[in-house]
Amino acid sequence: MALDRKPAPNDLRAFWMPFTANRQFKASPRMLVEAKDMHYTSADGRPILDGTAGLWCCNAGHCRPKITEAVRAQVGEMDYAPAFQMGHPLAFELANRLVDVAPDGIDHVFYTNSGSEAVDTALKIALAYHRARGDAARTRLIGRERGYHGVGFGGISVGGIVNNRRFFGSLLNGVDHLPHTHLAENAFTRGQPEHGAHLADDLERIVALHGAETIAAVIVEPMAGSTGVLMPPKGYLQRLREITRKHGILLIFDEVITGFGRLGSPFAAQHFDVLPDMITCAKGLTNGVIPMGAVLTTPAIHDAFMQGPEHVIELFHGYTYSGNPVSCAAAIATLDTYEDEGLLTRAARLEHHWQEALHGLRDHPNVIDIRNMGLIGAVELSPIDGEPAKRGFEVFKRAYEEGILIRVTGDTIAMSPPLIISEDQIDELIGTLGRVLKAVA
Ligand SMILES: Cc1ncc(COP(=O)(O)O)c(C=O)c1O
Repeated sequence: MALDRKPAPNDLRAFWMPFTANRQFKASPRMLVEAKDMHYTSADGRPILDGTAGLWCCNAGHCRPKITEAVRAQVGEMDYAPAFQMGHPLAFELANRLVDVAPDGIDHVFYTNSGSEAVDTALKIALAYHRARGDAARTRLIGRERGYHGVGFGGISVGGIVNNRRFFGSLLNGVDHLPHTHLAENAFTRGQPEHGAHLADDLERIVALHGAETIAAVIVEPMAGSTGVLMPPKGYLQRLREITRKHGILLIFDEVITGFGRLGSPFAAQHFDVLPDMITCAKGLTNGVIPMGAVLTTPAIHDAFMQGPEHVIELFHGYTYSGNPVSCAAAIATLDTYEDEGLLTRAARLEHHWQEALHGLRDHPNVIDIRNMGLIGAVELSPIDGEPAKRGFEVFKRAYEEGILIRVTGDTIAMSPPLIISEDQIDELIGTLGRVLKAVA
């Protein structure tokens, strides 16, 4: 679709949209123009109930006053400050606030601008940490099948979604993958599935193959979101922690989706009571308002770097916008909003209502599985023969026409509404989805 003339401002052709079927979209656009609390407004003036917190990021809902005001004020007061060899107070204040809500045992924060950058940063810190301790042979990284860790080369290398990998060459060397945890016998489980803790033992096989002394880190999403919402089987994360600890391998939880209250605790690490060595986060950190991510680490990781002459940079890594003042202001106001409204634990209170509403779709056409935890839920549909992902996409488009925003990955519908959703709005969201499933059948 080359441009044959200079485009007018409202021409759709120049913008190459990310993770989007561009030609379909441009033939039949879905444009959002406003947002407030639980709703978007479409360009044709319809309210759209947000069933996905934007892209899993607007946990406090949209255009929340404290956040809007904080950003507005900060842009006027100090728009930018250099991130290297200079500081500004908000970056330090935010780091302390994050350590406050993070699991006990986590006490340092490294800023990035996105989840993908947080993942690549955590992987780099893992490699450099071992080297700083004189354990430089630990270079191997372990991810998991069906994992999503963003789109940087590190993230797609440890990630396990084939379409995110196969077009992009040979990726990083020295990466292995654990098996995914999606087992047929767990279908229609409410909350954490019973079966599958043993899948963590595959790490012992990888250790036996390569030698523990060559392995730097294991990275997993404690609850895998983007691949279609896969819950960790009971005992799985604990087992992974035991095996990694036994072999001196770092454990990284990618909490870009689960961070900031999605499961009913501030972080999944607290929810499952498993302390990793690093946590990556982004999205809900600023309520989606300004791009920002972070890597949270234990003191052991941080302190390993704090050696050598004091004038020498300890970690040769960082971004122009690491901890920029406007992002920090947004994040602090976001944490204030979460705290004022009890949002970091609200999903736990809504979970039962959400779960029962969601599982009410079990007998609807083409539904082959339903999974839920906290305020996250997935409805998996059987694929149309020979046309995987088509049914899911049809449901997505029809849902938008009917006034709800959902997300689909292949034929799995994923929902993760803002944590401010009411029980009535849950009923509206799931009720509308039920009608859509029948209409598209
Ligand atoms: C677990 C996980 N990690 C990393 C990312 C990448 O984040 P971003 O799109 O901000 O780069 C995502 C995005 O959905 C994610 O779900």
